[in-house]
Amino acid sequence: MRMFKKTLVFILTFMMLASLGVFAKTTNGKKQIYVGFVQVGAESDWRMANTKSMQQTFTAAKGYKFEMVDAQQKTDKQIAAIRDFIQKDVDYIVLAPNTEAGWDTVLGEAKAAGIPVIIVDRMIKTNDKSLYTAWVGSNFKKEGYDAVTALENALKAKGVAANKQLNIVTLQGTMGSSAQIGRTEGFAEKMKAHKNWKLLGKQSGDFTEEKGQEVMESFLKSYPDINVVIAENDNMAFGAIKAIKAAGKTCGPKGDITVISFDAVHAAFEAMIKGDIDADVECNPLHGPRVEGLIKALENKQSVNKTAYVTEGTFYAKDAAKIIKKRAY
Ligand code: AHR
Repeated sequence: MRMFKKTLVFILTFMMLASLGVFAKTTNGKKQIYVGFVQVGAESDWRMANTKSMQQTFTAAKGYKFEMVDAQQKTDKQIAAIRDFIQKDVDYIVLAPNTEAGWDTVLGEAKAAGIPVIIVDRMIKTNDKSLYTAWVGSNFKKEGYDAVTALENALKAKGVAANKQLNIVTLQGTMGSSAQIGRTEGFAEKMKAHKNWKLLGKQSGDFTEEKGQEVMESFLKSYPDINVVIAENDNMAFGAIKAIKAAGKTCGPKGDITVISFDAVHAAFEAMIKGDIDADVECNPLHGPRVEGLIKALENKQSVNKTAYVTEGTFYAKDAAKIIKKRAY
């Protein structure tokens, strides 16, 4: 009976300590690093590749406890997830912010709790840079500039006269997100050099294929003479292509409508090979190893760059078949 009681006390104590996370802190004598990742959602191929990169990087075998929240493209869900990670006393919060505004209060809470916040992909808008430790992601405004160059080159390849009147529509990403703001602004700024380019309309398709298709359908009804679609990500481009074909029009290098997209995911290369997309401005989602590099440096008490941009390129339909084999996402 005494033996039974002792065993019971031991089991209950073990369970209590485990629930307090005492054992979670160590594996093989090494400190386990608890990373709470606040993800935007699962809206695009890019996002899925980004999630995979994080999951493949922060594995238990490498000494991480990794927990991800899919916020379904809702900023308020992301704020709630950060509060939950603060409660759980994670070692690092990694935030991929849905939109730029409204982070000061909750990041102030993370700071007060002594939890470093690493921002990845999109950026936040704040006057207090001490609210986050580091950011790594894309230069979205440059991507917008690059889309203008991509369009210039795609038109040249099609033999379109440089002074031809061009009617453009833009499918924008999630309004208020850095990816939308940067790409929209960058494109608008650089297209000013082309007095014959006219932006007929711009509307958000929220970075999804379904909404991209809906918006493109309504553009095609309102404007019968569209020459160019700028899709602020590949999934909206896929939706737009469906709408264009359903309307009895053609697109791509040999088609009626020139399509310029962003991300350069695997399916977009397939669409370029098929002849549906003219050019694609890259946005690299493989941030797992980059974030891990930051965390390792911080664990070793090394300083890290506050801001780090990823190097990205532009791809054209004519080269897609050669390049697709080398693509990692
Ligand atoms: O923030 C990166 C953007 O978000 C990608 O372009 C898009 O596909 C994703 O949803």
